Formats: sequence, structure tokens, C-alpha cells
Amino acid sequence: MATFLNRRQFLGRITAGGALAMAGISAKSQAESPGNRVVLGVAGMSRGRSLAETFSRQQNCAVKYVCDTDANRLDAAVEVVAAVSDSPPRGVGDLRRMLDDPEVDAVVLALPVHWHAPAAIMACEAGKHVYVEKPCCHNPWEGERLVEAARRHDRVVQMGNQRRSSAVIREAVQRLHDGDIGRVYYARSWYANQRGSIGHGREATVPNHLDYELWQGPAPRRPYRDNVIHYNWHWLWHWGSGELGNNGVHILDICRWALDVDYPKRVNSAGGRYRFDDDQETPDTHMVSYDFAGGKSISYEGLSCNVPGAGGTSFGATFYGEDGSMTIGSRDYLIRDSQGDVVEQRDGSIGDDEHASNFLDAIRNEQPDALHSQIQEGYRSTLLCHLGNIAHRTGHSLRCDGQGHILDAPEAQALWKREYADGWESILTQ
Ligand SMILES: NC(=O)c1ccc[n+]([C@@H]2O[C@H](COP(=O)([O-])OP(=O)(O)OC[C@H]3O[C@@H](n4cnc5c(N)ncnc54)[C@H](O)[C@@H]3O)[C@@H](O)[C@H]2O)c1
Repeated sequence: MATFLNRRQFLGRITAGGALAMAGISAKSQAESPGNRVVLGVAGMSRGRSLAETFSRQQNCAVKYVCDTDANRLDAAVEVVAAVSDSPPRGVGDLRRMLDDPEVDAVVLALPVHWHAPAAIMACEAGKHVYVEKPCCHNPWEGERLVEAARRHDRVVQMGNQRRSSAVIREAVQRLHDGDIGRVYYARSWYANQRGSIGHGREATVPNHLDYELWQGPAPRRPYRDNVIHYNWHWLWHWGSGELGNNGVHILDICRWALDVDYPKRVNSAGGRYRFDDDQETPDTHMVSYDFAGGKSISYEGLSCNVPGAGGTSFGATFYGEDGSMTIGSRDYLIRDSQGDVVEQRDGSIGDDEHASNFLDAIRNEQPDALHSQIQEGYRSTLLCHLGNIAHRTGHSLRCDGQGHILDAPEAQALWKREYADGWESILTQ
């Protein structure tokens, strides 16, 4: 399709979409017309491989590129995605090749966190729409740049907070908003896993199949170590954001949405790295609390090395209201009356397919506000994680202004932004 190149075409499309809607023609039948095919490039072939399969399953959507800095993962992904596509994807090592191709409408980014906002901003500047995995930024400063870039370039930018599109979770949140358990003022959330130790790594020769220079991208250079890539970068502040940014963000996003709050006024953190003596820097046991204006609070307990989580499951949040409580899980919810007795239970899907299809529909209709969750929502939930981590790293109880900015704590404010590799800061601010 690749028709999103100028403002005139954009306005023409809105007019055409409006006329179709007036004639009673659904977005689905618009999507089935060949001119509405959305062409994608997908980067990061672990989570991204699964997303490439998810998007390949959607109507009128073609994955033209898959991309990874690890040639082994790339080769395997080309085969897997080819098996579920009409034509095999091209494998590329450098995501800029996808941005250079005018046929590509949108990119899907499932990268190490230090790459998310920079790559998403580059994509917006290249005229692409963006599906960026959570957390959408490595630090709040670049998250704000990402939200600005999406607005400035009028792009459809969505984070991988897929439960925002899950029918059952949407129903649960709607019921909270409708007052089914009365006025709701507190959410207690949790995530739990049984992760092992990452050990003590050593400097080592970069494997031949990995382009480590490109993997590092916007992050200041560090020698290659043998226990970081893949996945363990999550636990090192230079690249990751710990369990809070990794999985806490999913449940905090639901809490913020359900309680209808944006930015906290106070953030407290407790916990540490207790289970193993190894290279991990981020906490494995993390208790964070957020107070919001209007008398509402969220607490989060993250356990990386113990199960079950606080509510007896690995993922969830219980919302407390005047007339009862609701517990939302990964793909389900249940309601208890004010005596604590279960009165209703529902389950459904996690929302991966629905989130992909919502993204594609918003692109086809050129309407960022048709997204179930625009990037500023993804950013605000990601910000909760960064504030919890900043509070943890500085030993501060943070006070924030009405926009989530930290007040009166220079040491904490210094973590609002990272240092970038040479030349990268200007890419993010141009
Ligand atoms: N929404 C969800 O449910 C969900 C699930 C899993 C992971 N994720 C998110 O997806 C992201 C990736 O996680 P993961 O588990 O796949 O990590 P991972 O480390 O296993 O995989 C990341 C991949 O990206 C590649 N990569 C690094 N830099 C690249 C670049 N510049 N261009 C192309 N490829 C590059 C790496 O070589 C690696 O193969 C994380 O942010 C994670 O939080 C989201």
C-alpha cells in the first residue's frame, strides 16, 4: 500500500473513509480491498518472530522484512515466517533497510529496550507507523521525545500493551468505570516468575553471528560479555529496566487505565536483589507504591525468583471499591462482593491478535486515535516503571508534579535521561 507519504493523500483518505462509513461499509470490508494491504517490517526475532507470525495471520497484511542483528536468529525467523506467509520475508540485519523502503507502511519493533524509542523515532521520521514493544523507552526523556515524534509526524504509534485490546480485559475495565464495584480507589498488582541466576559473566570475543556494534546502537559502547545477550540485558540498567519494565508494565498499564489516572504525585520503592549473588543489577524483589491525586493508589509487587505472586497467581491486580473487588488476571477477571465471596468469573484472550488488528485498522483509516491505546498511554505506564526504578536506585521517595516529573531530588532527576553513544542524541531531537 505505502500510501502515507503526504498530507494531501492523508486527508483524501480520511474523506474516503468517512464516505464509506456513511454508506455503511465496515472497516473490515475496506480492509479486504487489495489497495488496503499494509506492508510491514519486523525487527527483533525473538518476541518479534512471534509478532511477525501474528501479523502474517491478519487480513491484508504482508511482512516484507524480518530483521535481526543475530544472523542465526534471522535465518531461523525467515523460515518460520515464510511458512505462514504468502511470500517469504526478506531477512536484513540493519533496520534502516526497512525504513528506506517506500513500500513499507509500518515497522514492528521488539528490540532490547535501549533501542525502542530511538528506532521508533527514526521510523516516524521516515514516515512509518510503529508498533513498539513494551516498555516503549529506556528512560523518560526519550519516551517524551517518542510521544512528540508520533504527534509531529502524524503517525499511528502503539505499544505492545496487548491487553488493551483483549475483549475480556476491556469488558472488566469498562465495568470498573461503570461503577460495578462502586467507587474504586486502590489497585494491588503483582507479577511473579521463577528465574534463575545470570551468573558472573566475562569479557569475551563477539560471536561471528552477532553484529554487536549494531546491537549496541544508541547505547554507549561496552565490551561484549558472555552473559548479557540474549535476554539478560533486561537485568542491567545500561540496556534494560528490570522486571518492573519487563512485566510490571503490563499490569501497571491495566491499573492506570482502570483507575483512570495519568501521573503519580508520590512514588515509593522497597526491595533489592536478594536471591542470587550474580551480575544482575535490577531488583528481583520489588515493592513499589504510587499515590495519585483524587485519593487513588496502586501498589506493585514483583517477584522474579519466587512464585506465586501476591494474589496467588503469577500476574494480576485486585481493584478495591466501595461495593466489592475485582481481580483482573492475564486473560480473565472475577468479581467479589463486599463479603469477599466470588459472584462472577469471566475469561477470554490475552489480546495479541486483537491488538495487531487494531493497529492495522488505525493505519488503514489513518486515525491514530482509533488505537485502543495510543503511545502517550503506553508512555505513561512505562513512566510508572521508570519512576519506580529511579526511586529504587536513589533510595528516594519521589514527589512528582502533575506531569510525572520528579521534584526536589537532583540525584533522581539525573536518571530522567541516559548518556547516548556519539551522534545519537541529535537523532532523537532533530
Ligand atoms: N508484549 C509482550 O507480551 C512481550 C513478550 C515478550 C517480549 N516483549 C518485549 O519485546 C522486547 C524484546 O524482548 P525479547 O525477549 O525478544 O528479547 P531478546 O533479547 O531475546 O531478543 C531481542 C532480539 O533483538 C535483536 N536486536 C538487537 N538489536 C537489534 C537491531 N538494532 N535490529 C534488529 N534486531 C536487533 C537481538 O539480536 C535479539 O534477537 C522486549 O522489550 C520485551 O519486553 C514483549
